[in-house]
Amino acid sequence: MATFKTQVVSDRQDGAISLAVEELARGNLVAIPTETVYGLAADATELCAVQQIYTVKGRPSNNPLICHVADIDMAKKYVAVSPLANRVMQFFWPGPLTLVLPTRPGFAIAAPVSAGLDTIAVRCPRSETARQIIIELGRPIAAPSANPSGKLSPTSADDVLQGLGGKIPLIIDGGDTPVGIESTIVGIVDEKITLLRPGSVTADDITAAVQTPVFDRDSQQITAPGQLESHYAPSSRVRLNATEQQAGELLIGFGEVEGVLNLSPSSNLEEAAHNLFKFIRNADKRNPNCIAIAPIPNQGVGIAINDRLRRAAAPRNQ
Ligand code: TXA
Ligand code: MG
Repeated sequence: MATFKTQVVSDRQDGAISLAVEELARGNLVAIPTETVYGLAADATELCAVQQIYTVKGRPSNNPLICHVADIDMAKKYVAVSPLANRVMQFFWPGPLTLVLPTRPGFAIAAPVSAGLDTIAVRCPRSETARQIIIELGRPIAAPSANPSGKLSPTSADDVLQGLGGKIPLIIDGGDTPVGIESTIVGIVDEKITLLRPGSVTADDITAAVQTPVFDRDSQQITAPGQLESHYAPSSRVRLNATEQQAGELLIGFGEVEGVLNLSPSSNLEEAAHNLFKFIRNADKRNPNCIAIAPIPNQGVGIAINDRLRRAAAPRNQ
């Protein structure tokens, strides 16, 4: 693997977007901010660039990538957009919702992006910086979260630097990501919507927007093998639904369960999502025997938070 002196450039600095576009056009990887988490971006049409994503992250080759587009028209070049998918895009794009749709024949996206599936996950980020980079490059960007495989997703440029410093030439710093957890993912097949990964756009939001039910992934066949293996693992053990701090633990609270850190003293779930990965990283750095986390109501964005927490607490492979 090539080594780099990783440069961190603010997205407010003149020429930052062009700098990112130049690196991408050269086939290099650039970490970019999105509204959810930082992404490790490559030109999605360049085979070698996309292959580097898998190498740099240590990502299993059967775990496909999200293809980020500038708008609905760009998505339509690569995937078949059904009338229902079109309505979902119209309502939620740009924003933190990814759609898995059938690949169009003769598509130009590099094969490893879809990891052998006949679908591609497409998303149009709300982040101006991310969208500007895609527009100037003129091609979609393949970007998983910018962390070593299996680790927590980065919500700041500093998180990216700690995980991938020396492995990529450039990080565009857009400050803390507002949403803080990865996008919601849905699949749409035969005009049926299936939730593949919960996020800040909830199943109820989608149903309300397009008057169509959203089916649960677990009651159906699993379409993306990678989704089960992600662990979002901190180094410390994680204990969920904790209402008090036991010996050797560091308690992350929520609402009235106070804790050393509190995800949202006012029990606001959006605020808790924004703080989630940041606080887990922060707790992990203090190296407790165990990170204990207060119960989070399983409603609204709380469903996505609990999904990430279950993975963080899951038994480890190694
Ligand atoms: O918010 C986000 O989605 C962030 C930012 C950077 O956009 N990206 C992100 O990417 O979270 P990643 O690679 O960490 O997660 C992408 C998920 C994986 O679980 C993968 O299995 C799934 O998307 N995925 C990608 N393509 C798919 C496909 N064709 N079918 C089903 N799942 C797919
Ligand atoms: Mg990820």
